[in-house]
Amino acid sequence: MNISVVGTGYVGLVTGTCFAEMGNYVICVDVNEDKINKLNNGIIPIYEPGLERIVIENNKADRLIFSTDIKNALEKTDICFIAVGTPMGEDGSADLQYVLAVAEEIGKHITKHTYIINKSTVPVGTADKVRETVSRVLQERGADISFDVISNPEFLKEGAAVNDFMKPDRVVVGADNERALDVMRELYAPFTVNHERFIAMDVRSSEMTKYAANSMLATKISFMNEIANICELVGADVNKVRVGIGSDSRIGYSFIYPGCGYGGSCFPKDVQALVRTANKNGYEPKLLEAVEAVNYDQKKSIPRKIFKKFGEDLSGMTFAVWGLSFKPETDDMRDAASITIVKELVAKGAKVKAYDPKAFHEAQTCYLKDVEGIEYLDSKYTALTGCDAMILVTEWKEFRSPDFDEIKKRLKNPVIFDGRNQYSSKKLHEMGFEYFQIGVMPK
Ligand code: NAD
Ligand code: UDX
Repeated sequence: MNISVVGTGYVGLVTGTCFAEMGNYVICVDVNEDKINKLNNGIIPIYEPGLERIVIENNKADRLIFSTDIKNALEKTDICFIAVGTPMGEDGSADLQYVLAVAEEIGKHITKHTYIINKSTVPVGTADKVRETVSRVLQERGADISFDVISNPEFLKEGAAVNDFMKPDRVVVGADNERALDVMRELYAPFTVNHERFIAMDVRSSEMTKYAANSMLATKISFMNEIANICELVGADVNKVRVGIGSDSRIGYSFIYPGCGYGGSCFPKDVQALVRTANKNGYEPKLLEAVEAVNYDQKKSIPRKIFKKFGEDLSGMTFAVWGLSFKPETDDMRDAASITIVKELVAKGAKVKAYDPKAFHEAQTCYLKDVEGIEYLDSKYTALTGCDAMILVTEWKEFRSPDFDEIKKRLKNPVIFDGRNQYSSKKLHEMGFEYFQIGVMPK
């Protein structure tokens, strides 16, 4: 099949590459020339495990093309995915300007029947807006060309994006006719070959499914963070409670890890957007509002523990921060807890020495660019030298079983604040560390 994917970010690049890997001809389009130039020179603009090899292989095989020319892409293909960003707008709603700008371009340039597939996360009713936009532009052109608008939300997780796309739990497709559904079934057949994982529904339900899924996962995390906060107060250990409740198959073990708050490009903005959608329709979703409020507060849980231990004036103190990305195996820092933590500490006069295996560039050029008092070190151990305490923010594998003797030697005080509950408190206490976790009363 001949496919264009408009928007070559985390989702668009993975989507386009995985379709090419299955033998399709794919053109990935982006307005960002720098990104397209890099990709054409074999440089992958994001860090995503397993992606580089298949991008380069499929590009070399001329099945995967990178271009800024949407007109040419639409002429050569008859399936067009929209995979541009839908960031949080000023009032918390999803900002649809990029999606609708692509719809305009599609209206301007299609020359034959095109299946327009919305992969961006968009509020219910967006497919109608895309349809109206394309129809209006076609009418202005005086062109009589048919098209379908299909909803196909994406459920991949960063850090495991290629695997999630190649072996999806499910493929959700919303369409208003059987012909469109058949095309989507054919397109996804190689990915769903051993199990029936193709779930067809109407367009609005499909759009809603994405928000419902992310909100459910975010709810599990905020729920667990509340339990953790109560555990701390009453002397229970959330690490044990987590295992205790996860063993109930109705609850399950996944997404109940307490921590310093969820981040990333999806949960924060999608929960907010769903709240706004509900508000606009005259409903106040109290549970979803609380999910977001708990998370906002949870990002401050580590700074709160630090203030409790060292006081609110941190001038003259330095903290080592391990991990800046919003989770391991990605360089993405969108809405990362590290941003809140670093800013809170610096605001109280502290200095920060940070180390992250992949997210330095994002931190320095964007998310912490205006923060003074942060120094970036090239190894986890050098970041510790002379610091008053170490803070684990992102549970990268290389942080999971570090050399605690080395940590103790380098720190001024043997104090660890762990935002991801990674270490054995017994071992650390025996070694003379003061060890603070989420959801465990400090000893
Ligand atoms: P991203 O910011 O990484 O990428 C978006 C890309 O679109 C950018 O490269 C940008 O230059 C490009 N773009 C913007 N306007 C354009 C235009 N008019 N024409 C061509 N390209 C244009 O975003 P992302 O993380 O890939 O997310 C894309 C969508 O997928 C969002 O709606 C998001 O909610 C959803 N989603 C993201 C994830 C994830 O883990 N990142 C997972 C599932 C769904
Ligand atoms: C999420 C959804 O999982 C994915 O299905 C959707 O398509 C996009 O949004 P992503 O944002 O890439 O994916 O990462 P995810 O693994 O879901 O983690 C999100 C955040 O939740 C991270 O900050 C992570 O640290 C946090 N988290 C996750 C917890 O705090 N506890 C958990 O138990 C799980």
